[in-house]
Amino acid sequence: MLYLGWRCPPSQRSSEASYFKPQAKVARVAERALEHNDEGVRGEVDSVSTLRSLAHNVKFRAKRYYLRRRNSQAADLQELWATALADELAYWRMWLATGGAHCPADYQFRLDPEAELQESITSQLDRIGARVRLLDVGAGPLTSVGKRWSGHDFSLTAVDALADEYDLLLDEFAVVPPVRTRRCDTEHLAKAFVRASFDVAYASNTLDHSYAPMEAIHQMVDIVRPGGIVLLHHRTNEAERQAYTGLHQWNFEWVDNDCHLWRPSKTWRLRDELVNQATVTGAKAHGDVTVVITKNS
Ligand SMILES: C[S@@+](CC[C@H](N)C(=O)[O-])C[C@H]1O[C@@H](n2cnc3c(N)ncnc32)[C@H](O)[C@@H]1O
Repeated sequence: MLYLGWRCPPSQRSSEASYFKPQAKVARVAERALEHNDEGVRGEVDSVSTLRSLAHNVKFRAKRYYLRRRNSQAADLQELWATALADELAYWRMWLATGGAHCPADYQFRLDPEAELQESITSQLDRIGARVRLLDVGAGPLTSVGKRWSGHDFSLTAVDALADEYDLLLDEFAVVPPVRTRRCDTEHLAKAFVRASFDVAYASNTLDHSYAPMEAIHQMVDIVRPGGIVLLHHRTNEAERQAYTGLHQWNFEWVDNDCHLWRPSKTWRLRDELVNQATVTGAKAHGDVTVVITKNS
């Protein structure tokens, strides 16, 4: 999977470039040739390595083209979603095995029971009040949300469609989460929680992975109280960037002061969808889209 840590600063995020690296064996031979300063071997290695890189590049692009065409036209998104769950689990296994892949600081933050709620979240909640019950949907095995908010009576609940599988992974790596993720599809929140039982529902880098993201947003609005906030934080046009591979099937884009949630066969405009229920504000910055949905009182 290309994705290597949503919370990583852009300079540390993985990129397609990693796909074009020469094979490790060729790189080792090349190193030896350079050590011995052998011009002949070096020339040969250079051309083999270039050819292999090219072949790898062409294969990668062909696969991407095929997947983009096939998946962006898929009729049954829930079926496609179910087949991609194994990729998601494989990613989190690698993430746990490596202590956070390229972002060990993020891994430590998620494990810290004293971690303060991030400014990127608190800055959107200035009128929420002193008591804050926050629900993180599609949270992953270790929620990315801070666990305390000074001066507030703060409680955090985390849910994810793969929570049962994540429990097995956490056991395997002997990790005890400060907040254990509970199993629930975002599309079915209302079955698991009483209406209006949260002050804030938060989704980070997850609704673009879900099979029915507009329904998921409606459910999030449903479970926050009147005046409560639904906060969405996603990378711009992630499915397009990831060529509709794995769970990446939907795009968030901030256009003409509204959030468009789309894929080739469908576009929802959030202001239209939530008219008479909530107000929608937001912004795009550094390749991310933040949407703040305030439920009508
Ligand atoms: C890329 S991870 C993001 C995890 C976490 N929000 C973060 O920012 O690190 C996407 C998560 O969304 C979950 N997910 C995908 N579709 C879902 C759905 N329909 N309902 C609930 N969780 C879902 C996946 O299982 C995965 O844990």
